[in-house]
Amino acid sequence: MTARLLRPGDDPIRPAQVDAVEITLDGETMRGVQGQTIAGIVLASGVLSWRRTSVDGRPRGLFCGIGVCFDCLVIVNGERDVRACQRRAVDGDAVASQHDRLPEASA
Ligand code: FES
Repeated sequence: MTARLLRPGDDPIRPAQVDAVEITLDGETMRGVQGQTIAGIVLASGVLSWRRTSVDGRPRGLFCGIGVCFDCLVIVNGERDVRACQRRAVDGDAVASQHDRLPEASA
C-alpha cells in the first residue's frame, strides 16, 4: 500500500484529529494546531517579523528556521531568549516580542 492510499486515520503524518492551540503575540491572538512551533503559528497568521536588531532596528523574524541564527528570539511566558522556531506552542502561551539594545559603552 502506498502512502497515497492510507486512510486518514492511519496516516501518522496527518492525523485525522488535531487539537487547536491558541497563543498571543504582544496581545494579539493567533491560532494554530498542536505540534506547530511558535514561529509557525506567527508566520501562518501573516506576521513576518517580530523583533528588531539592536544596532539598526531592522526587522527580524524567521531566518534559518532550525535553531542556529537566533534571529527569532521572543519572550514566552516571561522567559527570555526563546527561539520561536524551536519552541512548540502550548495552548495559552503569552509570547512577547523581544527588542534588546546594546549595552552602553563604559568610559
Ligand atoms: S530562525 Fe534561526 S534560530 Fe530561529
